[in-house]
Amino acid sequence: MAEKVFIFDTTLRDGEQVPGAKLAKEQKVEIAKQIAALGVDIIEAGFPASSPGDFDSVQTVAREVKGPIITGLARAVKKDIDALWAAVKVAKRPRIHTFIGTSDIHIQKKFKSDKDKILQWAVDTVKYAKSLCNDIEFSTEDAARTDFEFLCRSVEALVKAGATTINVPDTVGYAMPGEMADRIRRLKEKVPALDKAIISMHCHNDMGLATANTLAGVLAGARQAEVTMNGIGERAGNAALEEVVMAIRTRKDIFKGLYTDVNTKEISKTSKMVSTLMGLPIQRNKAIVGVNAFAHSSGIHQDGILKDRSTYEIVRPEDVGVSAHAFTLTARSGRAALKHQISAFGHKVTDPQLDAIYEQFLTLADKKKEVAIEDLEALVQEELFKVPEIFKLEHIQFLSGTKATPMAALRIRKGKDVIEEAATGNGPVDAAYQCVEKIVGRKFTLIDWGLNAITSGEDAIGEARVRIRFKDTIVSGTATSTDVIEASVKAYLAAINRYIASEERDKAAKKVKGAPKKKTAKPSL
Ligand code: KIV
Ligand code: ZN
Repeated sequence: MAEKVFIFDTTLRDGEQVPGAKLAKEQKVEIAKQIAALGVDIIEAGFPASSPGDFDSVQTVAREVKGPIITGLARAVKKDIDALWAAVKVAKRPRIHTFIGTSDIHIQKKFKSDKDKILQWAVDTVKYAKSLCNDIEFSTEDAARTDFEFLCRSVEALVKAGATTINVPDTVGYAMPGEMADRIRRLKEKVPALDKAIISMHCHNDMGLATANTLAGVLAGARQAEVTMNGIGERAGNAALEEVVMAIRTRKDIFKGLYTDVNTKEISKTSKMVSTLMGLPIQRNKAIVGVNAFAHSSGIHQDGILKDRSTYEIVRPEDVGVSAHAFTLTARSGRAALKHQISAFGHKVTDPQLDAIYEQFLTLADKKKEVAIEDLEALVQEELFKVPEIFKLEHIQFLSGTKATPMAALRIRKGKDVIEEAATGNGPVDAAYQCVEKIVGRKFTLIDWGLNAITSGEDAIGEARVRIRFKDTIVSGTATSTDVIEASVKAYLAAINRYIASEERDKAAKKVKGAPKKKTAKPSL
């Protein structure tokens, strides 16, 4: 009999915990809508008690995103659960997700407590959550290292107290697939109450086994998989949605009768959107969504593919929304051709957006003779996913050379004001960043700066990515240009604009009913 594996997407919670990946509310809602279009069953939209801004974002997702169950994370404390409930109760189908560490390490070192007290605390929390909401997920944090007898006792009590989903996380990516399967199988055998609840897998990737452990759990009887797009998440990340879903679909002979409701054709689009908006590049050889995932380079492989695709292809690129790009565009390509290609990427654009993209396209086509599809895709992403431009670069001039002191002069617009500055630095990018800091009036720490060519060749578009820190917040920014210094400045401004927008959002959100009044210390997960 066919049985569904529920897909619980935590890109916007565990994924957003990646330093620098913090999203503005509008971006979070945009990603949540795309994840809903992808067909996941549950969206974990954030951690409402962590800041007024995140509360507001989760509440907006709960209000605006239709289809999936909407949840967020709460520590097992009343104040977190109240904030979560205030944020998600506006959803058509809300869920409360709460957790406590159950391993000896967590109980003794983190809580300085004992098993009985922790279990009582967990049960009381579930009972309180159940008084607010019917759909309750409880995570026995660090379950993979939890004493098995205690895990069974806890799960039994938590289901009896009202938990409808029990998550068995491998919080630190410690488990081996066989061990994980064994744990889930024995848990099902030993805890009769589990026939009233769904078992969920939430595996971290510290030893590169997140997907393998998730799938092992599914084969042993878990029916919910907690995943993130592109495998992003705390430290080495979480199991990747695209890998778990495509494995279940591709190996029907192993996952007999199991299916997910994910529309796999939306995978590539979702992956790119998450990468761009969160400023997290995808490694080239990443399974399913990396640029090389479907590129056959060796002659023997190419020959095989030409004879019959099944020789070296187990997943068809078109099944995950990757189309073959055979043609290029030139300055003579009209708006209609551009619009056609943009819709082939899976995007709908408004007329003003098309105008802006077309203008950028013509500028690029003047610099390069031919514009590759990848170049156009970069322009489209930049226009569609851009951060509100509080500070906008209007003009840049720089001087650099082996013997010259590098200097830069910038003109930046802020609303109606146009501000100009000049500065020297240890290179042209540094000089330009000094100008930006003078204009913005704040000092940021540059943590990371990198360049990547979108296409090959001398006239390739360069994509700059930066991560900066201000106080204890890290934000990232991305921008493209054929001039790498310009791309670097725009990326720096994108990160600053993102930081300022989130600061303003936090101020505004403090006034919302039920929202925490300030940021809590980083929750320990
Ligand atoms: O990794 C983990 O254990 C978590 C839980 C809180 C679900 O993120
Ligand atoms: Zn996690």
